[in-house]
Amino acid sequence: MKKFFIVILFGFYLIGACRKDPPPSTEPKLKQTPITLDIPRFFPEMIIPKDNKMTKERLALGRKLYYDPILSNNGRSCSSCHFQAEGFTSDPGLPTTVLPHVNLGWSKNFLWKGRNDQGLENVMLYEVEEFFQTDLKKINSDATYKKDFKDAFGVDEITSKEIAYSLAQFFRSLISGNSRYDQYLRNEISLTQEEMDGMEIFFTETGDCFHCHGSMLFTDNDFHNTGLDSVFNTDKGRYDVTGKTSDIGLYKTPTLRNASLRKRFMHDGRFTSLEQVIEFYNSGVHMNSPNIDPLMILPQKENGLMLSQEQKDNLLAFLKTLTDVSFTTNPNFSKP
Ligand code: HEC
Ligand code: HEC
Repeated sequence: MKKFFIVILFGFYLIGACRKDPPPSTEPKLKQTPITLDIPRFFPEMIIPKDNKMTKERLALGRKLYYDPILSNNGRSCSSCHFQAEGFTSDPGLPTTVLPHVNLGWSKNFLWKGRNDQGLENVMLYEVEEFFQTDLKKINSDATYKKDFKDAFGVDEITSKEIAYSLAQFFRSLISGNSRYDQYLRNEISLTQEEMDGMEIFFTETGDCFHCHGSMLFTDNDFHNTGLDSVFNTDKGRYDVTGKTSDIGLYKTPTLRNASLRKRFMHDGRFTSLEQVIEFYNSGVHMNSPNIDPLMILPQKENGLMLSQEQKDNLLAFLKTLTDVSFTTNPNFSKP
């Protein structure tokens, strides 16, 4: 009996010994901790590329980089224009307004004119290489970053690719889906009569907002000319990227989530309040603008929706239900 056991044990030892000797691998051994993002109810599936699955290490690194001026050559960090408290926008007084970083994990088109349409990793690469022109020597001479990148990507030399990939992970985590509107949809709270009436205007032909600012993302991720202007001189919108005359005057539809936190509105910041934006849709649309979106042209109506003051107030009340304080104060998104 004892001998039998010894034979079996020896057998196990042999199997074990064989297993212990895999062919030498050139692949870096990465101890990554996979994470699953908490996708709010009713949201679509997020776009996550196979070669950048969410991990604790990459996400933490992306968050650190977002707040670190090491990426720029002028003391700026991403967070110096994109403030969490304002839904990751701000108003630094630039001719072009700062687009918010919210729910971009679902976005296909980036920047007002759609300069990037190849996914988050790709737009991050643009931000690092072209917008910030990151000096890779600087980050490569930082011992802590060297270790962080080694742990997250297994690389000895940090390139813009790994920087872009980790930033993209942080962007995917910036999910806003807990506004009063979301809580209402989940049957957790009820909205006021004013807000309910505003919602009806938003989601029906009365206001017709939902055609472009629809779905849980409150953007169709597409480009439109809403008739803000009738002539386009230097700034021709999406045309500046594609060169197609049918794209003159088209801009990306911004999400309306957390819109009440913005200080200026539209690509050029021409409006300073949501009231002004609503008044534009109500009475300021240039119907003769080239390429104006067919949705903006209303038969029998002059330059807009012609809503009553009460309807405008209700629409405003509804837009304010899209503000998500748990997003703007989420400790996971702040400077690490
Ligand atoms: C000087 C201010 C400033 C800084 C710093 C800044 N941004 Fe921005 N960001 C902007 C402006 C302005 C826009 C809109 C520009 C446009 O669309 O042409 C924008 C837009 C974006 C967008 C597009 C969002 C969308 O909805 O399409 C992304 C992504 C982005 N920024 C990422 C970054 C990252 C990453 C960094 C740091 C590496 C950064 N930004 C630093 C001002 C800034
Ligand atoms: C045809 C598509 C379309 C329709 C319909 C539409 N929008 Fe927009 N909306 C856009 C686009 C595109 C922009 C950006 C325009 C620009 O900056 O040139 C925008 C901008 C906005 C902004 C400014 C957001 C910011 O961050 O600057 C608000 C607020 C807004 N829309 C609310 C509404 C409301 C309310 C309605 C319904 C009354 C509505 N929109 C209908 C496409 C549309």
